[in-house]
Amino acid sequence: MEKPRSSVVEQLRPLFRPRTVAVVGASRKPEKIGYQVVRNLMEGGFPRDRIFPINPYADEILGLKAYPSVKDVPEEVDLAVICVPARIVFDVVRDCGEKGVKAIAMITAGFGEVGNVEEERRLVELVRSYGMRLLGPNIVGVCDTVNRMNASFCQALPPPGDIAFITQSGALGIALVGWTIMERIGLSDLVSVGNKADVDDADLLEFFAHDPHTRAIALYIEGVKNGRRFFETARRVSKQKPIVALKAGRSERGAAAAASHTGALAGADRIYDAAFQQSGIIRAYTIDQLFDWCIALASQPPPRKRPVVIVTNGGGAGVMATDACADYGLALEDPPDDLKNVFRQYMPPFGSTRNPIDLTGMARRDEYYGAVLTALQHSWVGAVIVLYCHTAITTPREVADAILDAIRQAKVDKPVTVSFIGGAEADEASDYLRQNRVPCYPTPERAVAAMGALYRRAEYLGLLRD
Ligand code: ACO
Repeated sequence: MEKPRSSVVEQLRPLFRPRTVAVVGASRKPEKIGYQVVRNLMEGGFPRDRIFPINPYADEILGLKAYPSVKDVPEEVDLAVICVPARIVFDVVRDCGEKGVKAIAMITAGFGEVGNVEEERRLVELVRSYGMRLLGPNIVGVCDTVNRMNASFCQALPPPGDIAFITQSGALGIALVGWTIMERIGLSDLVSVGNKADVDDADLLEFFAHDPHTRAIALYIEGVKNGRRFFETARRVSKQKPIVALKAGRSERGAAAAASHTGALAGADRIYDAAFQQSGIIRAYTIDQLFDWCIALASQPPPRKRPVVIVTNGGGAGVMATDACADYGLALEDPPDDLKNVFRQYMPPFGSTRNPIDLTGMARRDEYYGAVLTALQHSWVGAVIVLYCHTAITTPREVADAILDAIRQAKVDKPVTVSFIGGAEADEASDYLRQNRVPCYPTPERAVAAMGALYRRAEYLGLLRD
């Protein structure tokens, strides 16, 4: 029977935002997962006095008092992270139930994914009989940056941010933590869903729809369990928050690989495509797209009008962005004459007002400020894409400041995406823009593609006026 929506949110809160965490199978040996989970919790910044290592053979682990059973912990336990082998899982889950633990994150493998389907079913039955919820089994864990809880064996916490990342591949989750740190992509939570024996994608969409720290939801999936419920939930949630999904296993061989990895149904890719569209899920095809688009969707309002204006200092960058606009169905038209006339004030006579608005390589801070402000304030314009190729006559940081000032001065609800093309200085300025909630990318195509995602969302929400 389907659980009422509000209760799903309440039930999952102890999983993502627990006050106390017990690590069952906390190990004394640094090479063991149970040791690393305790270390990660401590190093991530979760309060030491709220971490309880459980191990019947140890007195202390990493300087924390260890308890023989979760039942011996003198406080309430919200979340138990299970890192003991499958053969003793039933015993420790029973202990958790008797203790009144609220949620379980089960790292232990060896259930449905290796054919032990009946055992997995019994496990879920046991967990539910105590009113607990179970994430997994066969997961990496949970990383929550809101409360600095790294209850996983990922190498570190990702940077804090407003994207919730739900991944069916644990290994990909682990790998992407390092990548999010390097690319400075902020996450609210990283959730490895494993076998989805109890908590599934629909439950997680529901939770993050109601989570005030999450503005966009990124999904890596190979297949969904209970498709009807998933897509019905997605249709509702995507009205509140954007969802971007990377669905792997598109090709015939890819589908076969997904089937042996997670048991996902092969050959259903086109059905997924249609279901994504109907439920407002934006489909990404690469990891770059998944996060690029989430960054834009989390920080920018959806557009209300079709015409897009590109402002650039480089003709070539403008041409590439123009081609990309055609690929992503963005409307790039000649601006009306009154708008062209204002743009002329910000370029030399050999510039172009035809869209892309080419300010030429002469453009510096003031020209960018004037052109971006003009575009944002004109009623014909729906959205603005700003491109900057690093030249010797200005610094990327000056141009970044000009763009930010123009956005603040314009005081309008229109989306902006940016591309800074260049070396280390351009990268630093790009980071600065992102910190100020302006999505900036290293290539024009990526800035256009991110704008494409914003338009798709606006179309789904029925916001576009002609
Ligand atoms: N309660 C609590 N702790 C106990 C109990 C008990 N009843 N009984 C034993 N322990 C202790 C052990 O003594 C040990 O501590 P020690 O090292 O100090 O002696 C600790 O619990 C761990 O038990 P081990 O038997 O050493 O188990 P091990 O660490 O080898 O393996 C694990 C446990 C990691 C859960 C393993 O069974 C497993 O499932 N591994 C796969 C995990 C995985 O890959 N998950 C999916 C990730 S997704 C991806 O693709 C990366």
